Amino acid sequence: MANLRVTLCGLEFSNPILPAAGPPTKDGAMLQAAARGGAAGLVSKTISVKPAEVPRPCMAEIRGGFLNTELWSELPKEQWIAAEYRLARQTGLPLIVGLGYTAEQIAQLAPMVRPFADALELSTHYVGTNLVPILETLRAAKEAVDVPVFMKLSPHPNIQEIALALEGAGADGLVMINSFGPCLGIDLETGLPLMGSKDGFGWLSGAAIKPLALRCVYDAARVVRIPIFGVGGIASGRDAAEMLMAGASAVQVCTEAILRGPTVYGKIARELNTFLDEHGYSSVDEISGLTVRKMRQRGAPRATAAPRAELSRCVFCGTCEKSCPYGAIRQDKAVKTLEIDKEKCFACGLCVTRCKMHALSMEV
Ligand SMILES: Cc1cc2nc3c(=O)[nH]c(=O)nc-3n(C[C@H](O)[C@H](O)[C@H](O)COP(=O)(O)O)c2cc1C
Repeated sequence: MANLRVTLCGLEFSNPILPAAGPPTKDGAMLQAAARGGAAGLVSKTISVKPAEVPRPCMAEIRGGFLNTELWSELPKEQWIAAEYRLARQTGLPLIVGLGYTAEQIAQLAPMVRPFADALELSTHYVGTNLVPILETLRAAKEAVDVPVFMKLSPHPNIQEIALALEGAGADGLVMINSFGPCLGIDLETGLPLMGSKDGFGWLSGAAIKPLALRCVYDAARVVRIPIFGVGGIASGRDAAEMLMAGASAVQVCTEAILRGPTVYGKIARELNTFLDEHGYSSVDEISGLTVRKMRQRGAPRATAAPRAELSRCVFCGTCEKSCPYGAIRQDKAVKTLEIDKEKCFACGLCVTRCKMHALSMEV
């Protein structure tokens, strides 16, 4: 059993899996369900000075992802303070309180939620990409409270610049990424957009944004020392391991918890443990930032030779042959042969990633 414990800014988590701000953390009851489901800490839905008026429909599952037009909590801040945070605190888990958006709003909200908060998470989703207002929100929180302040970033193109500036201005950690967009999905029966927002646009989350989230976390981890919570498309222990390797110290999960319920946190933690055990890693810390370290030490993977095939694993499904753009693979199910033409093979690597049986591997 690997050591799943992580400590971030003095907050202790028994595993690195937390819920992300969203429907699975929309009130005290849901936060309690997240705790029962195996989350090691809680992140409450972003609240602002006024309840959100959410256009509906506001959620849709799409192929490979999820669209939403949720804003922030529809519950008034008074209800959170009177009831919801208290329910969350009953779990005994560290509670990170989500707040938004402008510096004035943060200055008003932060002292009100402080009695319940082990840390704050400030969403910059509606603050824009300009550094000045983003930094102002951080300063407003730092002046108002003495708990760690984590800054949640949307997938901005200038992520390194923002991450560095936030670290310089005293952010205690980063949370990345929020959903990506705006995006569009269309209901083929009505011909209308899936989302009920004014222009029909929504924000993309789930599996589709995982590579973008990994890139953002990796980019930030290369330039800052403060801890990063990785968010975006995490649905399994292997996804969590990938996010940790990219540079995250812990991860958050939203879409998968919406789709499969609050037991996903414990499931992902158990799968992460299995991954660590199977690969001989003794702790989460050992893989956190592994890719950053390896890229520094030896640089990017380099493939020059054709993949090797391990026939004992091959089920001769034909996937590699069908999708080889170089026509380099020939398999014959009847006589159980698989040949890779070394002259034709470009070492592109596609077949290795498509083989579900892990029968192909390539020197990198
Ligand atoms: C329906 C929905 C509502 C969300 N609401 C919030 C929110 O209130 N505050 C916030 O910071 N992020 C919010 N998010 C973004 C998620 O916390 C998360 O950053 C994003 O969805 C990527 O993670 P995922 O792929 O695991 O969902 C929301 C996401 C969804 C799908």
